Amino acid sequence: MAKLMKDRQYATPFTVLHAASLLGQRSRLVKFRNAIQKVVKDGDYVVDLGTGSGVLAIMAAKAKAGKVSAIEINPESIEYARRAARLNGVEDLIEFVQCNFSDFVPDTRADIVICEMLSSMMLIEQQIPASVYAIERILKPSGVLIPQEVDIFLAPVESPEIWGRFRFQEIQFPRVVQSAIHETTRDLADMSILESLKLMSLKQDTTIDETLQFTIVDKGTVHGLVGVFEARLCGDIVLKMEDGWKQLFIPLEQPIEVSSGDIFTVRVAYRPGKYDSLSIEIL
Ligand SMILES: C[S@@+](CC[C@H](N)C(=O)[O-])C[C@H]1O[C@@H](n2cnc3c(N)ncnc32)[C@H](O)[C@@H]1O
Repeated sequence: MAKLMKDRQYATPFTVLHAASLLGQRSRLVKFRNAIQKVVKDGDYVVDLGTGSGVLAIMAAKAKAGKVSAIEINPESIEYARRAARLNGVEDLIEFVQCNFSDFVPDTRADIVICEMLSSMMLIEQQIPASVYAIERILKPSGVLIPQEVDIFLAPVESPEIWGRFRFQEIQFPRVVQSAIHETTRDLADMSILESLKLMSLKQDTTIDETLQFTIVDKGTVHGLVGVFEARLCGDIVLKMEDGWKQLFIPLEQPIEVSSGDIFTVRVAYRPGKYDSLSIEIL
């Protein structure tokens, strides 16, 4: 399993500049800080999977963790995070480890694992495989995982602009998922929940395979689906899209004309973390 994931890194390792740009998501950081301050107790051992800029590891150190292991696959980001730890006087508390999360084996089990590899309906980023690994190999049985739950929602949308970008004059391209701001899509039905994932009780082979029925509320053309998510960090602290994420646009192969009152049925299947496992079937 670990070997397979190493073979397919996809887009998940972020550049150091991307990791630093996530520091601009202030409400996301406030929610993480509140969650970390709520669960970290004096002397706790905390592991931060996908540390990026190191921001969550530094928050844990400042919340009086006894030790923090910050894991990151990108060597430049690890170096940046190390500099940030020095700037904040917590370098002695944080061990930086540059590796794939699935190669990290802790000396002792952790009290808390933080893992922020959210976004894109958990299709591309490694939140689900990393959470499974954290439960099986890193966390104490009584430990706490942040976030604890993720809900994924979908809706059919009209977006000639995004659908059309895969053809330039006579040059065509295969259709792939795209991140999209809400203004570039028009919802044609209410959002439906695709999956509610309890991250503490996931299985190694977690897959999503659901058939959803939408009642179309407006005449238009379905060019694709958009996926969004909410993640409960702990207690009532919930991350939402407006805390920093774009929606994921999944283009259909062929647009479908719809009218108000139509039932639009779609089967969506994928293995979280495996970008090319996505299958969309219109029924
Ligand atoms: C969404 S960013 C979060 C960064 C930081 N924790 C924050 O909250 O700003 C996810 C980070 O996980 C790293 N990452 C992605 N896949 C990884 C893997 N397989 N093993 C270790 N790190 C990974 C990325 O390079 C990126 O820095």
